[in-house]
Amino acid sequence: MRKPIIAGNWKMHKTIGEAIETCRNLAELIEEQNVEVVVCPPFTALSAVNALGLANIGLAAQNMADAESGAYTGEVSVLMLRDIGCKYVILGHSERRELFNETDEQINKKARLALKYRINPIICVGETLAQRKANETETVVVSQVKAAFDGITATDAVNVVIAYEPIWAIGTGETASAADANQVIATIRKTIAEIYDQEVANAVRIQYGGSVKSSNIKELMAEPEIDGALVGGASLDANEFAAIVNYNVAK
Ligand code: PGA
Repeated sequence: MRKPIIAGNWKMHKTIGEAIETCRNLAELIEEQNVEVVVCPPFTALSAVNALGLANIGLAAQNMADAESGAYTGEVSVLMLRDIGCKYVILGHSERRELFNETDEQINKKARLALKYRINPIICVGETLAQRKANETETVVVSQVKAAFDGITATDAVNVVIAYEPIWAIGTGETASAADANQVIATIRKTIAEIYDQEVANAVRIQYGGSVKSSNIKELMAEPEIDGALVGGASLDANEFAAIVNYNVAK
């Protein structure tokens, strides 16, 4: 059984003080035991959140460098993330791909580096609106998934989390229908089975992301292939994010 993982990607939001307050509130509000809850604060707040020692909230960074150390002004290395208590790192978010020109090759290099140091990558894949309209969704996503796993052993692959995030659904209020998201995620799992085998494919957790909120999480999580969510805007508020995480708790 795959344990669902719901991660809150705060993007470029929250000072240290705000991050501490949000996490303290969130930790109190989490009732669900069967979901792994992760927050992804900006680099500057990682250390402070880690120092809170909250047992029910895991820590992720939003990006990392594709080298271990060296003359890379402004970059943050996997060793620093490990040092600061990160269990996960988001890689290849569409904003990184689009605004910072990150390529599949770079994202794969980062993923291999993260796994080398036992940080689990959450690798984002997803199509643009134009690609969806041109019926290219599966081709695009399959090629991103193949590139992401390039050179990664089966032993490491099971520690990768994939986030399927249709780009047109990010921050727009539009969500893929649960059935559509499930279908693309099933294709991703099939691709992983082709690269490795069914056992690995069954172990890898695949999230949906794109305008997830407390009002649509239940429907998404009811789909058999969807193993959690990568939540942007709705994760900034502790009450709303807790409501997402607690989607299955009887009221
Ligand atoms: P959103 O962002 O939930 O605000 O659409 C999702 C993401 O970018 O991961």
